[in-house]
Amino acid sequence: MIKKIFSGVQPTGNLHLGNYLGAIKNFVKLNNNKDNECIFCVVDLHAITTKQDPKELKRNIRETAATFIACGIDPKKSIIFNQSMVPAHAEGAWIFSCVSRIGWLNRMTQFKEKAGKDKEKASVGLYSYPVLMAADILLYDATHVPVGEDQKQHLELCRDIAQKFNNEFIKDNFLRIPEPLIQKEFSRIMSLKDGKKKMSKSDPSDLSRINLSDDKDQILNKIKKAKTDTLPIPNSHQDLKNRPEAENLLGIYASLIDKDLNYSIDEFKNKNFSEFKDKLSEVAIEKIAPISKEIKKLLNDEKYLDEILKDGSNKAQEISSKKIKEIKEIIGF
Ligand code: TYM
Repeated sequence: MIKKIFSGVQPTGNLHLGNYLGAIKNFVKLNNNKDNECIFCVVDLHAITTKQDPKELKRNIRETAATFIACGIDPKKSIIFNQSMVPAHAEGAWIFSCVSRIGWLNRMTQFKEKAGKDKEKASVGLYSYPVLMAADILLYDATHVPVGEDQKQHLELCRDIAQKFNNEFIKDNFLRIPEPLIQKEFSRIMSLKDGKKKMSKSDPSDLSRINLSDDKDQILNKIKKAKTDTLPIPNSHQDLKNRPEAENLLGIYASLIDKDLNYSIDEFKNKNFSEFKDKLSEVAIEKIAPISKEIKKLLNDEKYLDEILKDGSNKAQEISSKKIKEIKEIIGF
């Protein structure tokens, strides 16, 4: 069976190691399998659910596309496109918001986290964010959606919306129920400063994350300053319990070299962190510095990036306009 892959990344700047190890690395693997049809979206409509500076947003849209390409997604094989260029996303989001229940959205933990204490001041868009995400996925009949662990609940909501639409209009299997693709390990990369907090673009401390645009010296400095504890590296996974920073760094190392956590524990057991950090810096620089260099190079060619996004958006438009037409007919428009 051909797998139809769909995923999105917000162009809000500072794409980081968490985005890479939790999601984009997996996009590249899926892109490289010739049996897959992949679509990767720069979700700028999602980005404006929080305030964006127009000039920066424009730059970040190109930078996200550049990051996809620099990480190894081939625009000749996969569709890379810009959400706001394809009207079906906004139309679909409205239609699916009429299918979604307020009770479902009230359970979304990401809204609670992002809105913070003053929910009244959050945008309506931030609240209905996961409905737009469902439209993204359902318009392309995606079978599989690669994401980090933090998006699991949104994908469950997407499945509920699809099921309710199919039931309500007695259209079995019309909207395809997508499967999440979440890696078993390393699907949640944590902050370098606090092993209990997710690595995030919005963390005010730049030292909490390794950005995909960081150069060698920045990576070296951030790993040097990353929080650890005073004990040596243990012999077993069991002994990493209650040592979130140590577990996170060992996990990052393993994920960067495509191994599992036990492999890195085995390599560094009983050693101290300074020795481990030297090796971690080496592999992080080896992986990230060329990506960062390529992003900078691609950003110098805005015309090329704009063409990729325009071409991808035309292809996405072709697919999604058919689906939205069918959806409208089913509804009775
Ligand atoms: P965004 O831009 O916030 O995140 C992009 C991807 O990176 C993953 N991610 C992480 N993975 C592991 N550890 C982390 N610390 C970490 N931080 C971020 C996210 O899980 C995500 O996969 N809502 C989506 C964007 C979206 C989308 C879609 C995804 C819009 N429409 C349709 C899939 C399908 C998001 O979280 O973007």
